[in-house]
Amino acid sequence: MTVEISSPIRLACGVSVKNRIAKAPMTEGLADPMNRATDRHVRLYRKWAEGGAGILVTGNVQVDRRYLERPGNVVVDRNGGLEELRAFAAAGTVNNTLLFMQISHAGRQTPVRVNPHPVAPSDIGLALPGNAFGVPRALEHEEIEDIIRRFIHVAEVAKETGFSGVQLHAAHGYLISEFLSPLANRRTDQWGGSLENRARLLRRIVQGVRAAMGPAYPISVKLNSSDFQKGGFDLEDCLQVVKWLEEDSVDLLEVSGGNYENPAMMIGTRGKDEIRDSTIAREAYFLEYAKSIRAATTIPLMVTGGFRSRAVMDAALQSGAVDIIGIGRPMCVDPDAPNHLLSSAEASAVAYEQNISPSKAALGWFCLNIIRLADGKEPDREMSGMDAITAYLANEEATAAALEDYNIN
Ligand SMILES: Cc1cc2nc3c(=O)[nH]c(=O)nc-3n(C[C@H](O)[C@H](O)[C@H](O)COP(=O)(O)O)c2cc1C
Repeated sequence: MTVEISSPIRLACGVSVKNRIAKAPMTEGLADPMNRATDRHVRLYRKWAEGGAGILVTGNVQVDRRYLERPGNVVVDRNGGLEELRAFAAAGTVNNTLLFMQISHAGRQTPVRVNPHPVAPSDIGLALPGNAFGVPRALEHEEIEDIIRRFIHVAEVAKETGFSGVQLHAAHGYLISEFLSPLANRRTDQWGGSLENRARLLRRIVQGVRAAMGPAYPISVKLNSSDFQKGGFDLEDCLQVVKWLEEDSVDLLEVSGGNYENPAMMIGTRGKDEIRDSTIAREAYFLEYAKSIRAATTIPLMVTGGFRSRAVMDAALQSGAVDIIGIGRPMCVDPDAPNHLLSSAEASAVAYEQNISPSKAALGWFCLNIIRLADGKEPDREMSGMDAITAYLANEEATAAALEDYNIN
């Protein structure tokens, strides 16, 4: 049988997905000053669910409001907010869509405007110019145990409030990814050193979530194929971690790569000027890595990064290395992108990232268009890169300033 983007797929937990397109997780920045979900999540996710994807993965939902990736993140702690989460889940599951909550802790990638004193496996700051991130403090053993409990609690709340599944964010340089990295994790206790120790936090969370959820609830993990840094978490490490995740009964693995120091998830792994020999090599950033991962595991693989044309998506599925195609940026401008891709073998999703200048404005540009969709507006396709940077920074500062110090940790 030929697998195409329209083919359904059944996960090991028994849940069926109606097709092979997933909206990749994208931070929304739409929470209220107590970091609860809002009507804007409801409007945005209904639109995305109507857009035809089999799975929508939320932007990261945080386990601890002190360590956000962005001031407008949703946090699940004792801030109430359960009714809001129920409304969010109801909207994101219309049209027979599965909605997975991505659960995360930002670790040392917590911006200074949220907290100048982040935590991490070790006290090693990000190797980035400027002062957008503070030097972290190394977590105590008891704090790590507390973080594990928080992840499990958030997963329980996700299930209780109607989310179809959870995704544990172990990629892109956030806390779990920092523990996996020999560069960020220099611990000498049971949480650092060997790969087995560096993967302990991830595995304890996965095992704890599985024990709490039972066998029938979908659990996904987003993992880097590699951090693409000398001496960092690499493909070999990834292949071993994936084998462990299979033992721990993960239902869906999202494959990505990179972190804030090397943002491969947004630009791929090749140099900008390198000639790329085929459309598939140009578009599908992590396909070659997915092939190696496929050889190591039978867990269904969602591969995210660069996919735009239906032809490349179908070819990736037919290669056998990819089971679900993740798409991110096109959904910020065209929430109906999955329906368009499903409607024609010649279809392509929009690729505005190719036109935004300077390229460092792109993240803000896409974030602002997510907010416009959430506010019921049309996306602003003409927004200049410079305008995007200014408006995005103003939005982040205002959101951070409005956060309530409600003193619940
Ligand atoms: C605006 C924006 C926000 C993002 N937020 C998240 C996030 O919260 N969690 C995550 O795992 N990845 C996040 N990503 C990365 C995407 O999931 C995806 O890996 C990346 O956009 C590459 O896929 P694409 O080429 O289809 O856009 C974000 C990307 C963008 C553009």
